[in-house]
Order: sequence, then C-alpha cells, then structure tokens
Amino acid sequence: MSDGMQKILFDPMKHPEWVAPHSPEWYKQLFEEVGEYKYPWKSTFDEPRAEMILADKITSYLCEGRLLDVGCGHGEFALQFALNAREVVGIDVVEGFIETGNKAKLVENINFLIIDGNGNLPFPNDYFDVAYTKKGPRDWYHEGNRIVKAGGVILGFYHAGSHGALRELFPGLYSQIPKPEANDILCELNLHESGLTDIKVELLEEIEYLSTPEDVLIKKCFGQSQKLREVVWQECLKDVEGIFNKYATSKGLKIINYYHLLTARAS
Ligand SMILES: C[S@@+](CC[C@H](N)C(=O)[O-])C[C@H]1O[C@@H](n2cnc3c(N)ncnc32)[C@H](O)[C@@H]1O
Repeated sequence: MSDGMQKILFDPMKHPEWVAPHSPEWYKQLFEEVGEYKYPWKSTFDEPRAEMILADKITSYLCEGRLLDVGCGHGEFALQFALNAREVVGIDVVEGFIETGNKAKLVENINFLIIDGNGNLPFPNDYFDVAYTKKGPRDWYHEGNRIVKAGGVILGFYHAGSHGALRELFPGLYSQIPKPEANDILCELNLHESGLTDIKVELLEEIEYLSTPEDVLIKKCFGQSQKLREVVWQECLKDVEGIFNKYATSKGLKIINYYHLLTARAS
C-alpha cells in the first residue's frame, strides 16, 4: 500500500505543547474548549459500529433494570438507555461533563454524578443489574462486582488503537504500534481479584473512512491546544493532502479501529 521511501512527518507528540491524551490536564483542556467528549473529525463507518455492538449488548442484558455508566463523559451514550431502564446513573470525574449531562437530560430516571470510578463507589451492595464503562476507568471491577447483583453483567469497552492507513501512510505523525490481541487487556485490568466470573474478551474491528485530509490532523490533535494545532497544520497539511488524495477512496481514507470488549458476570 505504501511507497518504499516514505517521508517521516512531523511528530506532534515531541512538541512541548503536547498534552498526554486522557490525562487530567487533557480532559480539563478539552472541557474548557468544547464542553463535552465528542470526536471532532468528520468520517463515515461501515456498519455495525463498535459502540452499537456495545449498546445492543447493554440493552439485551438490561431488562428494565438499574444501569451504571462509569466514566460517562457528558452522558450522551447513557441517555439512550433511560427508556428501557428503571434507573440510569452516569459517573465521571470531570465536573463540567456532569453539569452538561444533567442539563441535557429530559427524563427523571437518569442522574449524572461527580464520582471517581476508581475509588469506593457510594452505592449499596447488589444495587445495579448492569454496569459498564465505555472508554472510562480501568480499576473499578472489584467495586463493580460488589454493587452489581450476583449474575448481573459488567462490561468494559476500550479503544485498542487505530490502524490501517493511519500508521502505514503517515509515519511520524502516527507512531507505529503493534496490532492488538484480544487478551492484551486482561493483564491491564487486574481482574483476578475482582470476584468477576465468566470473563470473556472480544476484539472488535471497526472500519471508518476519514472524510478529508484535515480530518487526519484533527484526529491526531483531538484535545490539544489551538497553538499546537496551528504548528501541526503548518508542518503537515501539504504532505497529508498529497498522501490522502493518492490513497483515499470515494468513501474517504479507510482506517481500522480496534476495541476490546470485556463481558463478565458479578458473583
Ligand atoms: C474517553 S472518555 C469517554 C467518555 C464517554 N464514556 C464516551 O464514550 O463518550 C473517558 C471518560 O472517563 C472519565 N474518567 C477517567 N477517569 C475516571 C475516573 N477515575 N472516574 C470517573 N470517570 C473517569 C473521563 O473524565 C472521561 O469523561
């Protein structure tokens, strides 16, 4: 797919303005700029989208029960379950996201609360029927097992990297990382002391088409400062346009997003 002699592009991660994605400082910067956690680039997808697979699983296990979203951001994803649930609770550490979620909600049975998902969760034993995280904290499974009733379901959905055109065609701008394996996530989550049973992990593959060359840069610079974005546009846009226009199809530039989907039962 790629040429033999590829130019190494500017690496924004080496710039002093780069803020590590998903660090507290990064979420603060993102919230101050846009007020929510939402991907800003334009793209289309082949169906099914990975998050629809997660949503279908949640709905199938929920059966009008109580649902917890750990690391809910501004709550947009959790809102869709309110009609099929007795109660939905979303928790997050970013106060602004929780405020945005509570302002947007139109039904009474959903609440967004400022709570650290990795700490002690202020809910009684066996309170929820289903709990999940969508790209949120990784250290809540022991508490999750306590607050979800025995036999209830716990789900973890984590982005495991974007591959395809991005890393092959834009070296430097996108660093090389190996394609993930399904079980990679198990050692990161330290589940053996959680009490969870029937633990399964799937690796989901999602096909996305970035719409324009600028979307390649917007994706890389998600949550970064305006100042850094200006540097990246100046350093990279011309090269990225050339590569994009050579390899994009009529749908856009094809990339592959991987997600780990963990499913387990509380005991
Ligand atoms: C990648 S974002 C995903 C947001 C939302 N779940 C979504 O998919 O759109 C991760 C979220 O987890 C939250 N988060 C990170 N660590 C957390 C923690 N220890 N407790 C609660 N929320 C946390 C972040 O503030 C952020 O809103």
